[in-house]
Amino acid sequence: MIEKALLPAPQRRWDPVVKLTHWAVVVAVLANALLTEEGSANHIWVGYALAAILTLRLLWGLVGPAEARFSAFPPSPARAVAHVRQIAVRETTAHRSHNPLGALMVYAIWGTLLVIIGTGIGIAGLPSANGGGRLAAASGEVAGAQSAAPGEREAGEARGEQRSEGTEDSERKEDPLGEVHEVAANLLYILILAHIGGVVFESRRQRRNLALAMLPGGR
Ligand code: HEM
Ligand code: HEM
Repeated sequence: MIEKALLPAPQRRWDPVVKLTHWAVVVAVLANALLTEEGSANHIWVGYALAAILTLRLLWGLVGPAEARFSAFPPSPARAVAHVRQIAVRETTAHRSHNPLGALMVYAIWGTLLVIIGTGIGIAGLPSANGGGRLAAASGEVAGAQSAAPGEREAGEARGEQRSEGTEDSERKEDPLGEVHEVAANLLYILILAHIGGVVFESRRQRRNLALAMLPGGR
């Protein structure tokens, strides 16, 4: 019993909040990229959920355990270059949190998600009693748009009319928020591929499955 107490505690790399928010973000991104119709009520609700999950993770970066804090993985190009040099000479260093290259990727993904969320909410409005102007329009189509507030109605009507008149593509091009939303979503897909590639690469290099550490009970 005493011997057991003297043994060092097993290294716990990611706490449950980091794990849970990671997979919740994955589910929300996949849902909006593959399952929901762009701009639909479901798309917008998943979007609000994504915003809440990301907010939780970012707050956790301030108050969570050491390895989850921003201070454990500062965005540092200099450290990232040093990390690349290490890769070149086949050296490995254990990192308590994200490695320097991984950290840059994490901030890039978070930044892109914030742009997607900001532009998405800019178009759809914040959740409200009637579900937000765009949300009302999306759930009730044109009828929903009529009951929305005047400013919000414009956006909703734009969507409803575009759908029925088939001028969606040309009209959408005029909405800079929609354009930025779409470009950021495409950038996110590229970052995700690079992120998964990075996880596989680093796992092979360290001979340790990093993805396991993100699973319940894994470290
Ligand atoms: C990572 C998550 C998300 C992805 C991958 C995503 C992806 C997309 C894509 C590809 C479009 C089509 C853009 C176009 O053709 O103009 C779209 C439209 C839209 N999204 Fe998202 N979206 C996400 C999150 C959100 C969020 C957080 C909100 C708001 C809460 C939102 C609200 C909308 C709205 C209102 C439209 C219609 C825009 C328009 O017609 O101009 N999306 N989304
Ligand atoms: C939609 C797809 C994905 C997104 C947006 C995403 C995003 C992220 C983000 C933001 C982090 C930082 C976590 C934090 O500190 O809170 C992270 C870490 C991580 N992700 Fe993902 N991820 C995705 C898919 C995946 C998949 C499919 C895997 C499994 C191969 C994976 C494995 C990991 C691992 C192992 C880490 C920790 C890396 C390390 O040890 O430093 N991710 N991911």
